[in-house]
Amino acid sequence: MASSQKFIIVAIDGGAASGKSSTSRGLSERFNFLHVDTGSFYRAVTYQLRQAGENPAEAASIAQALKTFKLGTLITGRDAMIKINDWVPGDEIRSQEINESVSLFAAVPAVRGFLLDYQRDQATVARENSFDGLIMEGRDIGSIIFPDADHRFFLQADLEARAQRRISEGQNDKIAERDRLDSTRKISPLVCPAGATLIDSTYLSLDEVVDLIAKKIQAD
Ligand code: C5P
Repeated sequence: MASSQKFIIVAIDGGAASGKSSTSRGLSERFNFLHVDTGSFYRAVTYQLRQAGENPAEAASIAQALKTFKLGTLITGRDAMIKINDWVPGDEIRSQEINESVSLFAAVPAVRGFLLDYQRDQATVARENSFDGLIMEGRDIGSIIFPDADHRFFLQADLEARAQRRISEGQNDKIAERDRLDSTRKISPLVCPAGATLIDSTYLSLDEVVDLIAKKIQAD
């Protein structure tokens, strides 16, 4: 039987290692939302473009290569993962090479255009799979993908705290450089959109951030 409960869309944006993924996962558990990590989409597309020998400076060639990518979605638990021509990404999209090139490919308009409707369509995927809502994290979710989301949050934390998170995950990731590229690109830059709730998680635990956002969602 269809639920009469309102389907809720939550947008979470923020810089690299700002705690978006852990927070979004915690909230997806609490509210039975589909969790969509759009950073993994950009990483997966970057991986496949690199495999195809593409270079971020060659926009026309990238646009051609993208035409050969057929997208699908695989749901595991409450996580939606992108499929490109039946390839489901794994740890290879978290490598140093991808960390270093993803922001360059993500700044190419053809790449952003390629993922635009696919990201919006995740709301339909969530509905069709009986989730009570969608929680999508990225850089431009509250500004471009779902500017009318029911809730929009922007997570930030001091650079040092964020760098420490990546080191404890065993990752080699120049997060300040990625943030610089992401916030200065011409198309869909990383911004805290007007009207979004800004949360500084530098001195908060994961549970505290999840609780804070959960209260705001429940208050509606
Ligand atoms: O979230 P994560 O750090 O894995 O994202 C990897 C990269 O993907 C970001 O640094 C950014 O360049 C790109 N990205 C984006 N827009 C999004 C999500 C990620 O440009 N909505």
